[in-house]
Amino acid sequence: EKDMGTDLAKVLISKDEIDAKLAELGAQIDRDYAGKDLLIVGVLKGAVMVMADLARTLHSDVTMDWMAVSSYGMGTKSSGVVRILKDLDTDISGRDVLIVEDIIDSGLTLSWLLSNLQSRNPASLEVCTLLRKPDAAKVSIDVRYVGFDIPNEFVVGYGLDYAEKFRNLPFVGTLAPHVYGG
Ligand code: PRP
Ligand code: MN
Ligand code: MG
Repeated sequence: EKDMGTDLAKVLISKDEIDAKLAELGAQIDRDYAGKDLLIVGVLKGAVMVMADLARTLHSDVTMDWMAVSSYGMGTKSSGVVRILKDLDTDISGRDVLIVEDIIDSGLTLSWLLSNLQSRNPASLEVCTLLRKPDAAKVSIDVRYVGFDIPNEFVVGYGLDYAEKFRNLPFVGTLAPHVYGG
């Protein structure tokens, strides 16, 4: 067991809750894409854990690719300025594509990513996110698969970082305000 230390305020979503939810989403994805050649695209770095665990719940034979974008840098607020740090290796023209994210906060990253990928003419383009913060949305996005809607608090763990730390926690927790000067 990891020590929560004094930097975390509480566990918001436990490992068991995450596992159960991913199994549920995975079953839906298996049904919805039955007979199709699905490409799942993980958004680095935050989505690493969701991709790895969600992909292992799938019974269908999918392919995986990765895109690295960053909008937060070292801060806790989305800048809205998205940088591509690594593009896809795959030509997604005519492909069924499912973007996998850890969290939709303001929605700015995903909104930018959706229009970027849409312009490459995929056969279909949908989104799966483990977490979503309805109260933080600056743009509305149609998301097919959502794990949990959560309050507008800064969360870390299970891929989510604060200044690159806490990604390896097996659960999602809230950060104590003293850590980010809140
Ligand atoms: C985080 C998170 C999402 C995005 C959500 O990524 O993983 O990708 O921000 O925020 P938004 O909805 O307000 O745009 P970040 O830019 O921190 O990069 P990382 O995944 O490498 O941590
Ligand atoms: Mn991210
Ligand atoms: Mg981040």
